[in-house]
Amino acid sequence: MCGITGFTGKQPALPFLLQGLSKLEYRGYDSAGVTLVNSRKLKTWKAKGRLSELEKLLSRNLTQSCGIGHTRWATHGVPSNMNAHPHMNEEETISVVHNGIVENYASLKEELLAQGYHFQSDTDSEVIVQLLDSYYRRKPVMKDALMRTVKRLEGSYALCVTSIYEPNTIYVAKQESPMVLGRSEEGTFCASDAPALLEYTREILPLQDGQFAILNKDSLEVFDAKGKTVIPQWIHFPYDVQAAQKNGYDSFMMKEIHEQPSVIRETLRGRFHGSRVVLPIIDQLDVDWTTIHQTIFIACGTAYHACVYADILYRRYTGGLSSVIPASEFRYSNPAVDEHTLCVFVSQSGETADTLAALKLAKARGCVTIAVVNVLGSSIARQTDAVLYTAAGPEIAVASTKAYTTQLVLLHVLVLKLAELLQHRVRGITRIIADLKRLPEITEQALETEPEVKKLAHMLKDKNDAYFIGRQLDYPTALEGALKLKEISYVHADAYYAGELKHGPIALIEQDTVVTAIATQPEVCGKTISNIKETVARGANVILITNPDTDAKEFKYVVRIPEVTPELAAIPSAVILQLFAYYGAKEKGCDIDKPRNLAKSVTVE
Ligand code: G6P
Repeated sequence: MCGITGFTGKQPALPFLLQGLSKLEYRGYDSAGVTLVNSRKLKTWKAKGRLSELEKLLSRNLTQSCGIGHTRWATHGVPSNMNAHPHMNEEETISVVHNGIVENYASLKEELLAQGYHFQSDTDSEVIVQLLDSYYRRKPVMKDALMRTVKRLEGSYALCVTSIYEPNTIYVAKQESPMVLGRSEEGTFCASDAPALLEYTREILPLQDGQFAILNKDSLEVFDAKGKTVIPQWIHFPYDVQAAQKNGYDSFMMKEIHEQPSVIRETLRGRFHGSRVVLPIIDQLDVDWTTIHQTIFIACGTAYHACVYADILYRRYTGGLSSVIPASEFRYSNPAVDEHTLCVFVSQSGETADTLAALKLAKARGCVTIAVVNVLGSSIARQTDAVLYTAAGPEIAVASTKAYTTQLVLLHVLVLKLAELLQHRVRGITRIIADLKRLPEITEQALETEPEVKKLAHMLKDKNDAYFIGRQLDYPTALEGALKLKEISYVHADAYYAGELKHGPIALIEQDTVVTAIATQPEVCGKTISNIKETVARGANVILITNPDTDAKEFKYVVRIPEVTPELAAIPSAVILQLFAYYGAKEKGCDIDKPRNLAKSVTVE
């Protein structure tokens, strides 16, 4: 996820570019840059860090009336000046900003290196400008060169191009990453999202996948993948800037819940070849896997729940020994670990103090270390032997949602890879991989339960307690459902193994106690349903989250997840419980994005 702005018109471009980037910082903020154009040369400024660092480099009297800007959230190459956008060709005559992931960048880079091109950054994006340069040299028509370039790109992109050859023109292309265009008396605009445009215009045109646009001072042309002109359908944008930053949702949490289908798609991008998992970073580890005797999953908070899931999966898929432990316990537990131990660290921020301390201890003991992290170049990412990145983009709401489901997905892929390396055959692997690939659609369908979940959350209005139960792979979902609810609604919520209910917690069940049972695992579904009956008999209001075909006639409140292999049911179930927590917090009138006493990233012990 990154943010892009572009302007060409009758006014200086810089004020628009910078205010637009500030509205897009929710899309990324590890570095920023702009290119301004005049007829003789391109001038580019870049800075690592937040937009304010870039602003310090820019003088106020830059009056060029055409330019492009970028705020970055690193996916390839750590946050740095070199890796910041825009990227230029060697002669500095063409400049490009890109949002998305070029999956085949390595092979394109090889091809360009063989042609004598040099690269300055570690990004996938730099190949775009060099490829464009190579086509433009062969035939100096920018529209053709851009169309030929994007034909070669596999993956996702939204990109803007400026050049000295047409100093008042911006070329735009889009595939799977967002891009909106705007126009006013002052000129024409483009940006990754509408909030960047709203102070300047409300006439907005969302560009569609496969489309291109050419922006000039007082004209804007859209054309399709074949180069044929498209009649644009302009809309009058209804929201104000704040609402638009949240995509019309009333909180970042809700927006992020709804982003899950697309960030899961990004996280899975390039991870499969047919029915095989592709994780070159793990293949390249210098490890004799026959010597690994145990695997430990380590994290804090929500990421710890993702580890509970991975731990169950690991034992099931590899037949090996594994365990899961919160980082704050691991670091003080004098753990029996050594060079025969694989430690997997999971963290959204990559900066959590306890997780970092646990990692240092594991390294000191000689363990093999792998990280699953969202923030590129973060401390945990830098210090492990191998790192895999979730592609959740910046998560603004304190309560983690999209980071969690992308962790589940990526850990699933990692465990499948480990099973392969440990030479253990995973039963049903073809079905599992097919469903992993379907997860964006499955998550979309899970979001459709929103109206029914909203009604059910009403039962939390006057409640101070709630219980969540599940067995096997439903247990981490129960843990995460309870955590989400307590974090944002302050309802006291506990999670139990469904089979443990009778050994104590059932004493707490009375008339109208809210119990959410997750029962998606065929081998234990019937058992969990028996446990629920015990609570119904004591007056509990039970919400059952289960598969499409479970016989649930006896229950009043049932939410069904979409059809999916049981190993992946945790993902749609988590989405449903996120919605439940959100609407529960709404019932209580809580500040959803900024819950009391909590911080997004805990960098102290
Ligand atoms: C804090 C946040 C949680 C998060 C935990 C671990 O407690 O409030 O939402 O799960 O830290 O953070 P990490 O960045 O390591 O995933």
